Parts: sequence; C-alpha cells; structure tokens
Amino acid sequence: MTISMHLTAQEERILGGEEGHGRQKAMELLVALGDIYGAGRLIPISSAQISGASFKTIGDAGIRFLEDFSEHAKVSVRASLNPLGMDTKRWKDMGVSSEFRSKQDRIVRAYASLGVEPLYTCTPYLSGNRPRRGQHIAWAESSATVFANSYLGALTNREGGPSALAAAIIGKTAEYGLHLPANRVPRIRIDIEHIPDGLVPLAGYVVGKVSGKRVPYLHGLQLTADEHKAFGAAMAATGAVSMYEFTAPGDKRVVDISTIEEKVCLNGSELRTQADKLKGDESWDLVAIGCPHCSANEIRAMAKYLKHRTPTKDSDVWFCTSRKVHASCPKEVATLRKFGKVLCDTCMVVAPIESMYKRTASDSGKAMVYLPTLGKQRASFRPRTELMEAISR
Ligand code: F3S
Repeated sequence: MTISMHLTAQEERILGGEEGHGRQKAMELLVALGDIYGAGRLIPISSAQISGASFKTIGDAGIRFLEDFSEHAKVSVRASLNPLGMDTKRWKDMGVSSEFRSKQDRIVRAYASLGVEPLYTCTPYLSGNRPRRGQHIAWAESSATVFANSYLGALTNREGGPSALAAAIIGKTAEYGLHLPANRVPRIRIDIEHIPDGLVPLAGYVVGKVSGKRVPYLHGLQLTADEHKAFGAAMAATGAVSMYEFTAPGDKRVVDISTIEEKVCLNGSELRTQADKLKGDESWDLVAIGCPHCSANEIRAMAKYLKHRTPTKDSDVWFCTSRKVHASCPKEVATLRKFGKVLCDTCMVVAPIESMYKRTASDSGKAMVYLPTLGKQRASFRPRTELMEAISR
C-alpha cells in the first residue's frame, strides 16, 4: 500500500510483520487512520483508554475481533477498559441473562490476555489512569476524552475502540486532530451567565449542540471537578468536539480569542427551558445515577443526604460507579444499598437495560442522548437533588 505518513525504520519493520501478526495489524490500522486524517507521523502516547467492552455494543463480531487480536498481541503502554455490560459480581441481581454473561466473560478474557487493565470505568482518571498536562494519550470514551483534554490538559482525539487498542499495542498514535495545537484553538465563545442548581449537565448538553465541531471557549464557567465530568460528558454526547477551553469568573488566565468566529450567551432561563423539554414522565421504572461513573465525593454526598431517610421503593435505583471508588467508601455504599443497587463495572447505557425497564430517569445530560437510542428508554431528566427526594422520604 502507498503510505503518505513518515514512518521510522522500526515502524516500517512492525508494518512489515517482523514483530508479529498482532503488532502488524495494529500498525496497519494506525497508518490507515493517519493517512485518512493527513497525519505526518506517529507520536508516543503515555496511556490508552479503550471502549467497546460491553457485549451489547460490540456483539459477536466484536468478540471474534478481540479473540483474534488477543492471540497475537499485548498492549505496550498503560491501557484501561471502559464499562462492561454488567457488574461482574452482581450481574444476576441486575437481571442479566446467563447467555449475556458468558459472552461478556469472553470479552473480559480477551482484554485480560491483551494486558488491558480491568478498571471497567469511563472515569479512569479517578482510578489511577490519570494523564498529566501536556501528555499525548489515545482515549476512546467520549466523556473521558473531553475531561482529559479540557480539565486535565492532556491531548487526545476521541478514538474508536479498535484504534485505541491499536495505539495501546504500538504505544503510539497518529498525530492529527487534537494532538496539534492549531486544532485546539477556540472558534466560538459562549458566555455563561448563570447555571441553575442541578442543571450543569444540561449546560453541557446545550453547549455541545451550539458548538458542533468547534472548540468552544466558555467564559465564566465555574465548576467543581465532578461538575466538569458531567458537563463534558453531555457536551461530547450532543456535539462532535472533545474539548473546551474555559475561564472561571475572576480567572487571570488569558485565553487567545483571536480565532473566535461567533459569540453567544447561555443563561439560566434557556437551561430551564431545556430541562422542561427533557422532563419526560412523572414516574419511572428505574432511577439511574452515575453517568459518568460517580466519584467518591458524589457517593459520600448522596449517602450523607440519604442517611436519615427511608426508601420510597417507587422505582428501582442504580448507582453506577467504578470498583475502585466502590472499594474506597464502604460505609457510604452500605447506606446507598438500602435505596438501590450500587453497581460497578457497568452503566445504564451499556448494560442491556432495554430487556429490564422502559422508563428511566437520570440526572445525566449524556444519558438523555443514549438512553432513548442505545437503551430504548423513555428518558426523563431530573437534577440529582430531585432524584434523591424521589427515592426517599
Ligand atoms: Fe460512562 Fe456509561 Fe455514561 S460509560 S459516561 S456511565 S454512558
């Protein structure tokens, strides 16, 4: 094949198959992507984060692809895995079938043999896989890429599952897109006037729609790390760009705005209107919290609120988090368990929720995009405080 990207002598050898079939296939994939996107070369990465871990999303063809790859290759940099379609311990309790479980187990085994770390979370940055400012990485999960680019200051494109895996195997990615400073400059300025309580995810939802493919500069965006997590996840779900620039009120940091083409304002009343549009049903089969996966701070805050209340049991409740966070706050997890299932390794979108429930409420802007599509749910948005009130008295 004709390659326009520059390859080093070692990369040529990998492409020629001298380091085995698995590395050759991975290199072919990286080179093909690099050529499509006009990359000049491959650059080293410090970590990868791989999506395509649930049997629901990758199916039998995905299993065959992974099993084939796993016979011939291993990752060469730190690589962690996105959520599976089930909690590996509580799958029966969730209502997952034995057939689904056995397919999911094959995926787990294939990734283990590839050397991928079984974090099973979309928040790897809360479980040890946390890049530093300026590091190039190859991450696939959309909510994690936007957090890494915007809040942590790392550099990544929104990889697909196979391209993130190929990058993990080679330890490099093609240099294009958000790896290049020229593509990280903001094109639209959005002045954030006010975000009403509980509507941060919807601010991300609206910003994603308004920005489309342009990196937005959000002026006046003052959020906690957990709020950035929820904001960015929603923004990446409705928009096509995996990064935002931001300054909080009083911030002395100067953002170069010479590339701004459009300026808009986002105020509280627009966000309340959006909340009304996504309100949906008044009662639900499931209340699902933890998209992206809950942090330890979020688990603690919910447990503190629920501690002296009793469950209403009007609907099932899922609190989704990572196994690391789950293990770090056992007392709080025990409190939440009185109100619903505290699930690790999975989430309401990549689990086979469509065979369990029809109407799901969540406080996640990202879930409002994917629950109706991937999950076939009638989705209802509610701020977290309203969900806490609804599941307890
Ligand atoms: Fe994470 Fe699942 Fe939401 S992977 S960001 S909890 S859709």
